[in-house]
Amino acid sequence: MSRKLLSFFLFSILLVLIIAQKRTDEQNLFAVPQDSTHLVQGKTHVMALQKVLVGQLVNAIREKGSAGAVDFCQLQAIPLTDSISEWEGVRISRVTDRPRNPDHLGDSYELAFMDKLKNNKQNGKSITPELRKRKGQIIAYFPIVTHTLCMQCHGNSETQISTKTLETIQKHYPDDMATGYSENEVRGLWKVIMRMEE
Ligand code: HEC
Repeated sequence: MSRKLLSFFLFSILLVLIIAQKRTDEQNLFAVPQDSTHLVQGKTHVMALQKVLVGQLVNAIREKGSAGAVDFCQLQAIPLTDSISEWEGVRISRVTDRPRNPDHLGDSYELAFMDKLKNNKQNGKSITPELRKRKGQIIAYFPIVTHTLCMQCHGNSETQISTKTLETIQKHYPDDMATGYSENEVRGLWKVIMRMEE
């Protein structure tokens, strides 16, 4: 892959992360009821994760140049060395109904929740986070919504994604289902798994 393409990848991902962070701060995207300790806790984790990701990207650009840029789309490929490893018993991932990475396909509960969110969005209703309790765990879900910057990798594959980008995506993700989105669509969920105290 050419250096130019790699730089493009790194740059776009950095922008996406910075803008996502800004949007989160600005709109208070995950408006969470203050009386729900676990939602507040989950939201804090997601926001901190986004901050760490931006920091690590900036470092990587400085240290390694453009090498390995595509891997930065992959959360699990990023060593979360600072604050996040200190969150004992917390795991964060992303799930969706139309995965690029097949590991991110949601379970039946998550797919049903995605359906509900999409319906709400279509009918002009607000979309809100949700808590799910499982044995020994509490899981907080926060909607991930698309905007302009996501389109170059998740938009219309003929008009919005460049041929080079599309080829790279298809090479890494032969079963990709994550194109064809418009702006302001529910793309997936942040999933924050927390251990229950009792
Ligand atoms: C530079 C290309 C690029 C851009 C821009 C981009 N993504 Fe992605 N996205 C990817 C790749 C590649 C993956 C697969 C990552 C992996 O394997 O873990 C992915 C995965 C995801 C996932 C996880 C679920 C899945 O399908 O695997 C979500 C959610 C997601 N992207 C949302 C977004 C949103 C929202 C934006 C805009 C704010 C965005 N992406 C912008 C390339 C991109």
